[in-house]
Amino acid sequence: MLELREVSTRYGPITMLRNVSLAIGAGQIACLLGPNGAGKTTLIRTILGIVRPASGSIWLEGTRIDLLRPHQIVARGVAVVPEGRRVFPRMTVDENLRMGAFIEWAPADFAARRDHVFSLFPRLAERRGQTAATMSGGEQAMLAMGRALMSGPRLLLLDEPSLGLAPVLVEQLFAIVQAINRSGTTVFLVEQNARKTLEIAHRGFLVQKGEIVGHGNAEELRNSELVRHAYLRA
Ligand SMILES: Nc1ncnc2c1ncn2[C@@H]1O[C@H](COP(=O)(O)OP(=O)(O)OP(=O)(O)O)[C@@H](O)[C@H]1O
Ligand SMILES: [Mg+2]
Repeated sequence: MLELREVSTRYGPITMLRNVSLAIGAGQIACLLGPNGAGKTTLIRTILGIVRPASGSIWLEGTRIDLLRPHQIVARGVAVVPEGRRVFPRMTVDENLRMGAFIEWAPADFAARRDHVFSLFPRLAERRGQTAATMSGGEQAMLAMGRALMSGPRLLLLDEPSLGLAPVLVEQLFAIVQAINRSGTTVFLVEQNARKTLEIAHRGFLVQKGEIVGHGNAEELRNSELVRHAYLRA
């Protein structure tokens, strides 16, 4: 589904990602684990074309995408729940969802997609006229996920969706990520919550200081010294 070949990304003179190679198979939940400042968000932004890699290439379903603009990449079926969620605070739930469907769907399509989102997140249906700024953190997390789903993505990128949520909400959110994946969407889940993430991910990658330092299936990662030492001590 997605392949990065020897991707390096720089901010000015500083290299933030160094020769990152990874592949995510269609239908999987793949995760990226790494500490603060490791380059996880930079990797998401590079995939989306928000920052251009300095070298290397990125392939989506066999097509090279690293020379495309973000809206062209989104049009090819990629959506994101960005770090910090970034819901539009003064817009209502309905309006936020409409922003996620900015690819021009016929109105009937919009309604069908919104109804699908409402079936995943009934709470959003109850609050459809409420502005996002007045919603709880958990509700905003659902809204950000719903907004991403409005474009009907085949690849969903999630940048630390669990951050700041109570454990019960993380549980709910991850259950929905699993349901989205079972309905055919490939998921790339960036997280620091390794324990929970490895419960739902099929495989994953470890990033430290801009380099991939480990990868494997969920079982292998749970048992790896690196992961145990860095992430599963609690
Ligand atoms: N626009 C930018 N200009 C310069 N440096 C940046 C920029 N964005 C990020 N960085 C730097 O790149 C490094 C990697 O940041 P990044 O946000 O990708 O890390 P992260 O793994 O997502 O961390 P976190 O878990 O805290 O979200 C950090 O040292 C950060 O300060
Ligand atoms: Mg980040």
